[in-house]
Amino acid sequence: MPDTLDTDSLIEAASRHLWQNYFSDKEEVKRPQVLVRGEGLYVYDSEGKRYLDTFASLLTTLCGHGRREVIDAVTQQMEKLAFFPSGYDCIMEPTVKLAEKLAEVTPGELSVSFFVQDGSEASEAAIKLARNYHWVRGEKQRTKILFRRYSYHGATLGALSVSGLPSLREPFEPMVPGGVSVMPARCYRCELNLKPETCNLTCLRNLEATVEWEGANSIAAIIMDPVPGSNTGFPPPPAGYLQGVRDLCDKHGILLLFDEIQVGFGRTGKWFACEHWDVTPDILAVAKGFSGGYLPLGAAIATKQIADAFREAGAGFRHVHTYNGHATACAAALANLEIIQNENLVQRSAELGDYLKQRLESLYKHPLVGDVRGMGTLWAVELVADRETRAPLSPAGKVGSLVNDWCRRNGMILRNNGDLLVMAPALVMTNEQADEMVDGLDKAIEAAAREFAAQTSTPA
Ligand SMILES: Cc1ncc(COP(=O)(O)O)c(C=O)c1O
Repeated sequence: MPDTLDTDSLIEAASRHLWQNYFSDKEEVKRPQVLVRGEGLYVYDSEGKRYLDTFASLLTTLCGHGRREVIDAVTQQMEKLAFFPSGYDCIMEPTVKLAEKLAEVTPGELSVSFFVQDGSEASEAAIKLARNYHWVRGEKQRTKILFRRYSYHGATLGALSVSGLPSLREPFEPMVPGGVSVMPARCYRCELNLKPETCNLTCLRNLEATVEWEGANSIAAIIMDPVPGSNTGFPPPPAGYLQGVRDLCDKHGILLLFDEIQVGFGRTGKWFACEHWDVTPDILAVAKGFSGGYLPLGAAIATKQIADAFREAGAGFRHVHTYNGHATACAAALANLEIIQNENLVQRSAELGDYLKQRLESLYKHPLVGDVRGMGTLWAVELVADRETRAPLSPAGKVGSLVNDWCRRNGMILRNNGDLLVMAPALVMTNEQADEMVDGLDKAIEAAAREFAAQTSTPA
């Protein structure tokens, strides 16, 4: 198809009228890519250049772009009835079918879904659901939500108030009351520089102490991502940690909320990350890969016991958004989940994880590579100044952005959070595409290290 797009005018109009995510006032703003097409793991820009997307359109396109099954499901639903508000006395087929499918694929007693539009709203709904649950049961004093420092649960004020990233919180202070931060569980960058072999799960002890100090019966819920997201490079929880959190919640009647917005739906080689540790939350927040990136959708999935508490009290969950349970978005998600099931993509993700582990660990040949970690289709390569001491690079983020630039010039989309390089390719990645990704990264680190050395070496 001939490309008639006037790229320069589009970029010019965007600079005047479009307020984008990550809108930056830095002087050195990169010329944006104008992306026009996607196919499988590749996206194409307006000049016809192809890019291997190693981050699956921000962790969404699990089954790749252009899937006929999803396009057909969406088209058929749109032709029948694109949208009608659910609630009151109205239900629509894709919404119910999707809720049923979620009950089938989620672990434990999770079985009742509340649909929203995205991840922030899923966290927001989970938090409100938790407070509301205690309220309908007559425990109105349970309002606090414990969350971990460095976590991210969303951009809406409620979700942000239980996220642990100061730079995201500060411009919007004051936060919603009731959020209490605790120590994260990330061993490579332990807040106290402890060693996992000898720390006796200090992060869990900190959580227990906080529950005691705050007063257990003032706490509605603890929210966490069982495997934290790309901003900290998917650090796995230490052995015994998640079970310890579950036991603590059970002991004190606190609800456990898991945010699997990044890591759910096969990403880790199981349907949900928490299944690796055999720990099930009371409410599970999902989004991103849920609809395969085709339409915005999220959900807070609760146990039957939580839903029953509302039913027994004759109470509704008053969290109405017009588009909640949008039939066409639900049709897209249903088709996406069926592809994951029919093509055994959860198993494929686990196999790909084994392959990527051995391929990515070869990058230790670069002295700058401090840590390679991940599982399934979620991987991080942390660049450091010194592998032994884990000292960060200075200036921070420079090498990461050189790697990113090299990749972009050479037809690959790679996400870097400073000097943390993160990959989350689609579950349908082939071994050849995995090679393309790792080989590209290898060359990019090599080139970036050379350029960084040239830039930072002081002339004699
Ligand atoms: C772990 C986690 N939770 C919540 C969110 C918020 O999701 P959304 O951007 O869809 O609102 C994100 C987004 O990156 C996330 O990574």
